[in-house]
Amino acid sequence: MCGIVGYVGHGKAKTVILEGLEKLEYRGYDSAGIAVIKDSEIIIEKKKGRLQNLENHLKDIDLDSDIGIGHTRWATHGEPSDKNSHPHYNRDKTIAVVHNGIIENYSLIKKDLKEKGYIFESDTDTEVVAHLLDFLYEGDLFDAVTKMLKVIRGSYALGIIHKDFPKELICTRKDSPLVIGIGNNENFIASDVPAILKHTKNVYFLEDGDIAKISADTIKIFDKTLTPVEREIKVIEWDYEQATKGGYPHFMIKEIFEQPKSIEETLNRRIKNSMPDFSDVLTEEEIKKIDMVHIVACGTAYHAGLQGQFALRKLAKTNSYVEIASEYRYMDPFVTENTLAIFVSQSGETLDTLAALKEAKARGAKTLAITNVVGSTISREADNTIYTMAGPEIAVASTKAYTTQVVMLQLLAIYLAEKKEVMTKTEVKEAINTLYSIPKKIEFTLNESDKIKPISEGLKDKVNGFYIGRGLDFNIALEGSLKMKEISYIHTEAFPAGELKHGSIALIEPGTPVVVIGMQSDLLEKTISNIKELKARGAYIISVGREDCLDLKNVSDSFIGIQDIDDIFSGLLSVIPLQLLSYYTSLSKGIDVDKPRNLAKSVTVE
Ligand code: AGP
Repeated sequence: MCGIVGYVGHGKAKTVILEGLEKLEYRGYDSAGIAVIKDSEIIIEKKKGRLQNLENHLKDIDLDSDIGIGHTRWATHGEPSDKNSHPHYNRDKTIAVVHNGIIENYSLIKKDLKEKGYIFESDTDTEVVAHLLDFLYEGDLFDAVTKMLKVIRGSYALGIIHKDFPKELICTRKDSPLVIGIGNNENFIASDVPAILKHTKNVYFLEDGDIAKISADTIKIFDKTLTPVEREIKVIEWDYEQATKGGYPHFMIKEIFEQPKSIEETLNRRIKNSMPDFSDVLTEEEIKKIDMVHIVACGTAYHAGLQGQFALRKLAKTNSYVEIASEYRYMDPFVTENTLAIFVSQSGETLDTLAALKEAKARGAKTLAITNVVGSTISREADNTIYTMAGPEIAVASTKAYTTQVVMLQLLAIYLAEKKEVMTKTEVKEAINTLYSIPKKIEFTLNESDKIKPISEGLKDKVNGFYIGRGLDFNIALEGSLKMKEISYIHTEAFPAGELKHGSIALIEPGTPVVVIGMQSDLLEKTISNIKELKARGAYIISVGREDCLDLKNVSDSFIGIQDIDDIFSGLLSVIPLQLLSYYTSLSKGIDVDKPRNLAKSVTVE
């Protein structure tokens, strides 16, 4: 969602901020803006639409400055428009504010400020922060910010500048991400690391309630009690190049092709002497106590959770259930101290997942995060964290984060199985070997990706479609369908293959595309029967199965063959053609693949 970049240093504010905002475009936004202090004045420029609009507008405007803040806005309060874009001024234009999050009590504050004579230019919740600071300001910006924080409620990451403090940037956060980048005679703030990776790999992750006072050569951090604190400097392992397209036309296709490597790195991180090792997050004693595992996540991460549940049940003989994070905390989840609650989130910032985590913790569960982003809010809130090794995922449509989450959950299941002695050491080693064979098998499919292009050409003008599968294949169908919806805007639904005939088959017409995943050997015959029912009603069948599976191929209009693999790990292979199918369909429809409409990469509102 919204993205913040701030800079204080020497002369480069405009360039650093605009380049940084570009790196945050993946978060999703509908307007962008910048504020700098120049010649003792604050200049704000902002534009509705893509960052490019703002950049075009700024071409002939001299904004060279030592200090500034920038923002990409994803509208919540007030439509996307120039006036609702951030930054926002106070009344005499001495203060500028950028904000990510929601000020929940903004209408009360606004009413009060209006009564005091303040005039509001926008419909946003954020503007109250600028006017409130104005009201509380008595010559010390930091002091005004601390007073303002006592009044506002909600979630926020804030970047603030004042024209009388041209060498000082103030930032603060609560329930919204914000990092401080440590430079050499220059410092940075950003919603996410890729925005500043070009300049530094050394960062502070602020804790909830922290306020920082930043100049070119000092960073002073205070906790919520206003006590000066030393936060640990974290060194980011990601490279700047990983956050660039590296010759690919889109981040999504680059990230699809990175999966063999990211899966291998994820395996390497957790396998010691050919055995999975999670002893740093789960001791044998803790494992013995676990009588239920909850897996909680949103969207694609939820689909990874479904595969995790499958592995926990099948391999580790462990009671487990998966829930959508936005539902979890409202369903009175049954949690005991013997519940292990796992929260899966690429970004580690998804508000629904974070709220569910807090709920599980409050109810006494042992909490474990699986996330891709070091220092993210979810990683800090959970009792323990396991990091996937996907590297930065920029495209809105999640691909490599998903497969690395699945691998991590499967490895964790194997680890539990071994500790619970429901798998022998030999069986564990065999499973590990199978997982290590996956990157090569994915490469096989990637090398054949050209074969998928003509299939997507046939899909591009379709309005509706279905994805079906049985057992684990149904979980993959769900993920394939979500990918297709989010980047090609074709309405698709995923069903267990046996379920369509209970109602939805009424929607099948001649030419309706149905994507079938047929990797569960013991269920294949039944899936093929379902295909026949669909074909009899005119459906166009696109299937994914083992390359030598003639039974499936012969009943399909288009067939995508993948390499052989044990049924239980097959989702890691069968999902790849589905990712490619949605990518090429999106391309053929001329959609902005990496930044599909209405979506944000990191969803930090409920
Ligand atoms: C994936 O393609 C989606 N864009 C979305 O479903 C995403 O997986 C979901 O919002 C969860 O995000 P997270 O993993 O960062 O928590």
